[in-house]
Amino acid sequence: MRLKDTGLTVADIKAKVNKYMIETYERMDFLAESAKGAYLYDQNGDAYLDFYGGVAVNSVGSCNDAVVKAVQDQVATIMHTFNYPYTIPQAILSEKICKASGMDKIIYQNSGAEANEAMIKMARKYGVENFGPNKWEIITAKQSFHGRTFGAMTATGQPDSAIQVGFGGLTPGFKYAEYNNLQSFKDAITENTIAIMFEPVQGEGGVFPATQEFMDGIRKLCDEKGIFMLMDEIQAGWNRCGTFMCYQGYGIKPDAVSMAKAMGGGTPIAACAATDKLASAFGPGSHGSTYAGSPICCAASNAVFDYMEETKLGDHAKEVGEYFMAELAKMPNVKLVRGRGLFVGVVLEDGINAVEVKRQCVKDHLLVTAIGTGIIRMVPPLIVTKEECDECVRRLSRCIARVAGK
Ligand SMILES: Cc1ncc(COP(=O)(O)O)c(C=O)c1O
Repeated sequence: MRLKDTGLTVADIKAKVNKYMIETYERMDFLAESAKGAYLYDQNGDAYLDFYGGVAVNSVGSCNDAVVKAVQDQVATIMHTFNYPYTIPQAILSEKICKASGMDKIIYQNSGAEANEAMIKMARKYGVENFGPNKWEIITAKQSFHGRTFGAMTATGQPDSAIQVGFGGLTPGFKYAEYNNLQSFKDAITENTIAIMFEPVQGEGGVFPATQEFMDGIRKLCDEKGIFMLMDEIQAGWNRCGTFMCYQGYGIKPDAVSMAKAMGGGTPIAACAATDKLASAFGPGSHGSTYAGSPICCAASNAVFDYMEETKLGDHAKEVGEYFMAELAKMPNVKLVRGRGLFVGVVLEDGINAVEVKRQCVKDHLLVTAIGTGIIRMVPPLIVTKEECDECVRRLSRCIARVAGK
């Protein structure tokens, strides 16, 4: 839809949103009418350099030609049937993901939270059916983020945050340990523990990559205790961190991994892939979802996968990410820069408000997100060039200086 075809103004659009929507977001003050590559465009065709990428979704660039074609072809062929008959895009995609991730089996979902629910349910069911009725406790990390459904939000290790507060009872069976602290996880394990679940890079928690020592240690710990290692790669997976799945860059393999965001090229698809052993917990009736693995989303995801392979997008993300982080670290008013690939956090000097920086960036036609009040997070499309990174650094630096007053 184009604004000019509706007879409405930007003010009309804002008024409708304010009047009719239950608002749970702080909106950026502009209208995103169209998008291409690493840019969003407003109703006048003015470009905004997009370094939040639909929050890590627009991996192959907005309206990527191959994805657009795949979706258009699929929409004209078959849109939806539910998971009763076999469908072609699903079958082909499943083989690609299993082979690329080293997992045996996959189940599709529609969102990151749901993919985590599937992973959690699979582990709990395996525990109860194979070890006994109390074996379903899962340890997750403090400051983690796993989504906003009841299981996923309880798995989220932020008990005092708006994510968990005010909803009455949460889901039982979760405990939290310190991220990147192996001893803390060791101490949290009980005879009822069935799994440890965490993000390879904590995104919402402030962009903290796992250390190699922590990854290796958790794998070993899970093997020793006979429990599952569950990896939430909703944000980190599909080449964002330089390898197809982020864990591959660490040289380890979990027992299951959840994925979403980057895999759909803008369409709502998510999945949980697992080893044969863990996947055996699910059978007919134990899990499902009406739209999960829809032909449209699987066709889009196939196109994303192929495009990433053909363009070696993981290598590109690694190389450009390293360059970008080095350039960001040279900016004044910045305490430190951390991340992995094109999953980047900029920690501002004390007293510089990241939310205000984010707002200033919109005015300068640069789109980033803030974590809390001190960190700028950037998860741009993986196709961004070094030149676009330079432009981002120029604009971000200017906006930080404006907020810092120096
Ligand atoms: C690590 C992680 N897990 C889970 C989720 C939830 O995904 P969704 O918003 O698609 O439910 C997110 C979303 O940002 C995430 O970053």
